[in-house]
Amino acid sequence: MYRYIRFFLFLFNPELAHHISMKGLKLACFFGFIRNKNTHSKPITIMGLKFPNRVGLAAGLDKNAEYITPLSRLGFGFIEVGTVTPRSQPGNIKPRSFRLIKNEGIINRFGFNNVGIDQFIKNLKKAKFKGVLGINIGKNYDTPIDKAVEDYLTCFRKAYPYAGYIAINVSSPNTKNLRNLQSDKNLEILLKALKNEQKTLHKKFKKIVPFVVKVSPDNSIKQLDSIAKLLLKYKVDGVIATNTTIDRKRILSSKYAKEEGGLSGAPLNKKSTNVIKHLNKRLKGKITIIGVGGIITADDGIEKIKNGASLIQIYTGLIFKGHGLVNDLCKATR
Ligand SMILES: Cc1cc2nc3c(=O)[nH]c(=O)nc-3n(C[C@H](O)[C@H](O)[C@H](O)COP(=O)(O)O)c2cc1C
Repeated sequence: MYRYIRFFLFLFNPELAHHISMKGLKLACFFGFIRNKNTHSKPITIMGLKFPNRVGLAAGLDKNAEYITPLSRLGFGFIEVGTVTPRSQPGNIKPRSFRLIKNEGIINRFGFNNVGIDQFIKNLKKAKFKGVLGINIGKNYDTPIDKAVEDYLTCFRKAYPYAGYIAINVSSPNTKNLRNLQSDKNLEILLKALKNEQKTLHKKFKKIVPFVVKVSPDNSIKQLDSIAKLLLKYKVDGVIATNTTIDRKRILSSKYAKEEGGLSGAPLNKKSTNVIKHLNKRLKGKITIIGVGGIITADDGIEKIKNGASLIQIYTGLIFKGHGLVNDLCKATR
């Protein structure tokens, strides 16, 4: 069935196809055409949260928390919405997303287009979802890097009462200098501030909301080692490995190879698994790893888990393979 839906959607540019598919999914859900038939779920408790299964939707597909209810019908155990920033912003000029059909990849340079945290919270309050809701936060494009902590704290405070967990995005390649927040000095300042805020909000709301840091696949081993050290030092709850890559080695022959942005999907798979493997060695099971990057088949999901991930997420695989992939992954990772 998804073959036909995909054929239709791929007639449009990726951004338009995205809007059509989200509206279509919402309608199909409203008329009761989609029921969650996922019979392969096995609940598991991770970071103190009960996940109905190990398979999640990665950030960026529902940037404004508008489609949580319909997306939940696809069988995800957790859904990560965002990236959301303190103020609304339009993102980069179009076109800003490219489909690499032969490579089963996507290049995007959206640049955190979103409605801002206040409208985002209004949207998510309307959602019905029994799984775990992750809220992915970032900084506005015009906030200088040395003031970035304030942007994260603003979103962290506003997201806290509604989030299952909060993901700290310091790894998108599409916001200038954002990835510098992974450097030793900047990351330490950020983690310290967030950990303190978590303690304050824990007292205020009488619940602990774990936070996880989303890392880039383009870090050197040395950088990864320093990141792992800081995650351990500040007892961060988890790490998401990985965001998209700026590496084009695996798609040199594609007509889109020279487009700026982050590459996702099959060409990212090995690179992200290597990051998971390395982090797992350093973190020694003390910190949860959420594996994401190029999961296109059930075997890809198993591979991430074998290398240290406790949970997995998909984005590009959903575009290329459809919602059957969610069920296949749940079955394979029970
Ligand atoms: C079109 C698009 C938009 C994305 N937007 C975000 C985002 O806003 N925040 C974020 O943390 N990751 C974002 N990502 C990265 C994904 O969450 C994921 O980490 C990455 O695509 C690798 O997974 P995949 O190969 O399954 O797509 C985006 C990815 C794509 C393809």
